[in-house]
Formats: sequence, C-alpha cells, structure tokens
Amino acid sequence: MTKIFAYAIRKDEEPFLNEWKEAHKDVEVDYTDQLLTPETAKLAKGADGVVVYQQLDYTAETLQALADAGVTKMSLRNVGVDNIDMDKAKELGFEITNVPVYSPNAIAEHAAIQAARVLRQDKVTDLKMAKRDLRWAPNIGREVRDQVVGVVGTGHIGQVFMKIMEGFGAKVIAFDIFHNPELEKKGYYVDSLDELYKKADVISLHVPDVPANVHMINDDSIKEMKDGVVIVNVSRGPLVDTDAIIRGLDSGKVFGFVMDTYEGEVGVFNEDWKGKEFPDARLADLIDRPNVLVTPHTAFYTTHAVRNMVVKAFDNNYAMVEGKEPETPVKLG
Ligand SMILES: NC(=O)c1ccc[n+]([C@@H]2O[C@H](COP(=O)([O-])OP(=O)(O)OC[C@H]3O[C@@H](n4cnc5c(N)ncnc54)[C@H](O)[C@@H]3O)[C@@H](O)[C@H]2O)c1
Repeated sequence: MTKIFAYAIRKDEEPFLNEWKEAHKDVEVDYTDQLLTPETAKLAKGADGVVVYQQLDYTAETLQALADAGVTKMSLRNVGVDNIDMDKAKELGFEITNVPVYSPNAIAEHAAIQAARVLRQDKVTDLKMAKRDLRWAPNIGREVRDQVVGVVGTGHIGQVFMKIMEGFGAKVIAFDIFHNPELEKKGYYVDSLDELYKKADVISLHVPDVPANVHMINDDSIKEMKDGVVIVNVSRGPLVDTDAIIRGLDSGKVFGFVMDTYEGEVGVFNEDWKGKEFPDARLADLIDRPNVLVTPHTAFYTTHAVRNMVVKAFDNNYAMVEGKEPETPVKLG
C-alpha cells in the first residue's frame, strides 16, 4: 500500500489531513507534529513520500537522513524553497513540490481590512474603549472611497486586493514591471513607481522579496509620497526599511503602517513572549503605536488557505509516488 508521511502537522491542519485521508483510502497516511531533522527522518522509513512545512533548514544532513530512510519525494505545504540545500537534493535525486498559490484572497483581504482600519483610526478607538473613554474626537476616520490606492505588484494577491479596494469605492492605480494585459486595457497602470508614490494615499506592496526589491520603501521613496500616506506591507519584511518608516511615522509624513511581515521576524513571530524578555525593542515600539497595525505573518492564516496548503501538498506527493506529473514541481537548480 502507498504510504505518505507528514511532518510538523499542526492541530489546525489535522481536519484537512483527515479529509484527504478519507478521500484516499488506498493510501496509508501517518504524521507527526515534529519537524523534519536528521533525527526524525527515520520516522518516514517505509513511506513513499513525505509532506513537510518548516522554517528550519532542510540541510544536507537532513536530506541525506531522509534518503537513507528511503524517501526522496518531498512535498512542501508552503511556497518558499530557499531553506532547502538544493545541491544536495539534486545529488540525492530528490523530487520536490511546493504550493505556490493557496489563497491570494487570504492575504489580500488582510491587507484591505488593516488598511481600512488604519484609515478609520480604529486602533485609537480600541485603545480608548479599553480605558472606557467613549468619546469620538479627535480620531476622525478617512473613508476608503476618498483614497487613491496604489498597488505595487499586480500578481495573484495584488489583483485581488485591487478588486476589494474598488469594492470600497477607492480609485486604484498600479505599477508592475510586467503589465497584465487585462489590467492594462482597463488603464490601471502608471508609468513608474515614482508616479505611483506621488499620486497614492495608500500604498500596498505585493511584490516578491528579490534582491532588486529589498528596501524599496526607504527614506527617498517616502519623501516622494503624499503627506499622510498609509503604507501596507503584507508581503515580505525586507521590502521595507523599517527605520525609514519609523522616521516617517515620527514626522507625521506617514499616517499609518500595516505590517504583517518584518525584517527581523524569523525566530520572533509565532512565539509566545508572555512573561519573557521581548527580543526586539524596535518591534515592541511598532506594536505599541496607535497608528501601526502589526500582525505576526498571519495574513495567510485562514481555514481556506491552510486547507489548500495541506490538500495540494498531499495531491502533489500522491502524484509523484504514483509516477505521475505533480501539479507544481520545484525545479532543482
Ligand atoms: N503575509 C503572508 O502571509 C503572505 C502569504 C503569501 C504570499 N505573501 C507575499 O505576497 C507577495 C505577492 O505574492 P503573489 O503570490 O501575488 O506573487 P506574484 O508572483 O503572483 O506577483 C508578484 C508581482 O510583482 C511584480 N513585481 C516584481 N517586482 C516588482 C517591482 N519591483 N515593482 C513592481 N512590480 C514588481 C511581478 O511582476 C508580479 O506581477 C510576495 O512577496 C509573497 O511572498 C505573503
């Protein structure tokens, strides 16, 4: 009987794993909540493939241990493959898949909700309410329909974000280094990032973290933006020079900042710091600001997205172990 073994399965993933298992009675599915390491690799012995998801590196040693356990077909439940030792994977004849698109709406919705909350100064109201201060002033809101929303990157997520913001009635403009023909026809694109920065009241980033995009939001780009701009980064921390944003917030140039991803998030996000010394003073300062909405990389964290990550990874793995072409293979170098 075909056997698939899954690592690091969280409680919230279990129902979707069981759903897949129920629909594939010809496959034996086993799993652990432990990460894949050189030590835990042996748990997969006897399996035809593994399903994985972790921030921890898939080192040469880990891949070797997995190959020694007889498994070289590995399906990631997430997008990112930069923590895999690709040379070793290639040398050992690994076949790898990922899930590049699991729910653009999850991320786009989060960006839209948070942007609207910043415009309405809802966090200020929440903080006042907690202290039983029920007065309106001075935190008057800005309506989304009165804003020009500038979308940087019109890929899977950026496009959904554009639709949501248009639903609110905003005027949407966009910039992308590749123009989507449909969006082009509808006249969304401006010619340069500078033009977008000059015209937009809300700027939302939906581009990848490639070297050319690192710190694309910096002191110089902020200088070009309108006074009272709202900046939204639910994409990748390194896109934004956090110190430049803080300077913009301090001067009042930046009205508010939405931050779901952060330059120093690895090892900090998705941990419980209650009762422990908080490791990042700059992050603590951002969390405490009434016009900054920090979330710990949870934009993707919805039932819809998590189900797709689990189900698509298992589908990919099953295809590989059955000798079929998986839907989303990863090219190894
Ligand atoms: N916060 C989360 O939970 C979460 C989850 C998934 C994805 N993301 C991030 O969201 C971002 C967008 O993902 P996606 O699936 O929409 O990607 P995508 O590949 O579908 O689209 C990215 C777009 O950005 C464009 N682009 C690249 N560099 C650019 C630049 N300098 N200026 C303008 N456009 C540029 C590309 O041409 C492409 O159209 C990525 O950074 C991804 O890592 C975040």
